[in-house]
Amino acid sequence: MRGNLPISRRSVFKLRQVAIGAIGSAKIKILILGCVALTILAVATRNRDGSLLMGWTGDVDGSSSPRGRYSIVMNTWKRYDLLKKSISHYASCPKLDSIHIVWSEPDPPSDSLKRYLNHVLRLNSRKDQQVELVFDINKEDSLNNRFKEIKDLKTDAVFSIDDDVIFPCSSVEFAFTVWQSAPYTMVGYVPRMHWMDQKKGNDKYKYGGWWSVWWTGTYSMVLSKAAFFHKKYLKLYTDEMPASIKEYITKSRNCEDIAMSFLVANATSSPPIWVKGKIFEIGSTGISSMGGHSERRTDCVNKFVDEFGGMALVPTSMKAIDSRNSWFCSQSSTGGVNSIPPNTLSLDLPEGSNILLPRHYCRH
Ligand SMILES: *[C@@H]1O[C@H](CO)[C@@H](O)[C@H](O)[C@H]1NC(C)=O
Repeated sequence: MRGNLPISRRSVFKLRQVAIGAIGSAKIKILILGCVALTILAVATRNRDGSLLMGWTGDVDGSSSPRGRYSIVMNTWKRYDLLKKSISHYASCPKLDSIHIVWSEPDPPSDSLKRYLNHVLRLNSRKDQQVELVFDINKEDSLNNRFKEIKDLKTDAVFSIDDDVIFPCSSVEFAFTVWQSAPYTMVGYVPRMHWMDQKKGNDKYKYGGWWSVWWTGTYSMVLSKAAFFHKKYLKLYTDEMPASIKEYITKSRNCEDIAMSFLVANATSSPPIWVKGKIFEIGSTGISSMGGHSERRTDCVNKFVDEFGGMALVPTSMKAIDSRNSWFCSQSSTGGVNSIPPNTLSLDLPEGSNILLPRHYCRH
């Protein structure tokens, strides 16, 4: 026993020296491997339905109450293949109460379309939920239709969505739980921002698209092409939105989403909440909707500032992330780097040395 100890100590010492020699790469590799392994583990347990692990049945929040479920309000226009795809997808999402299709076409929906949609709804919806499908038919073709008050809506939460974007049910559910914790706030996946246009004076603004948000990490709107909000804002939009703004939207066929952002911000004096979620664009407008047309959007912002008597939008840089997916590979929220203290992995480093990891090195 006694004779063996120094030898093993020596070999440990040697190992350490080897380790220190290769420290730069080895430690980072170990960290990255660990990160990958834990991510795989996290994904695996989640896919097995992470809720079961905790004995969580999902009914604790009272999904029968008005706050426990949500309704989809979907805007569509002559794209029946997209409509069919997205309805059959969302039918399977838990806590969905009903789907309202905002119909502004001159002809009413055909019987075959109705039959098809009701069929996929029955086929794909979960056993424990009866999802109702309603066509809200409009005489006039206007973008304001998507925010018309729905009189018999059973849920407080409205999930407003375009027919050409699909979110996995897990992303929808996460955004819904964020909304439940802030029911008077708009909660969505597609952030936009406004800039002060200093060249034109202090009360002129510019619309900032996705790249502006990406660059600054700041946003002041979430677009209604994919957002949760309280149903009371439908009534507010219908009753209180200045007629001049509604006419402008009908004529320019644009900016109803910016107007809704103004309305909610004006009512709450608070910013919206951007939630992280996977987006699948199934329409063909994916790229063009990310850029371009920003002059028209800028005109809208300035018009709405005039009508609301000031800039109602409130900027923020907070983003909601599902911590079940990000607990290990966390991002630094303060500085540009994550600093891992020495000895994290029981390896000796010269005093004071840190391993600096670039921000977002575990990207989600
Ligand atoms: C904006 O908010 C103010 C104060 O709450 C309210 O009086 C006004 O009607 C709101 N404007 C619109 C267009 O909703």
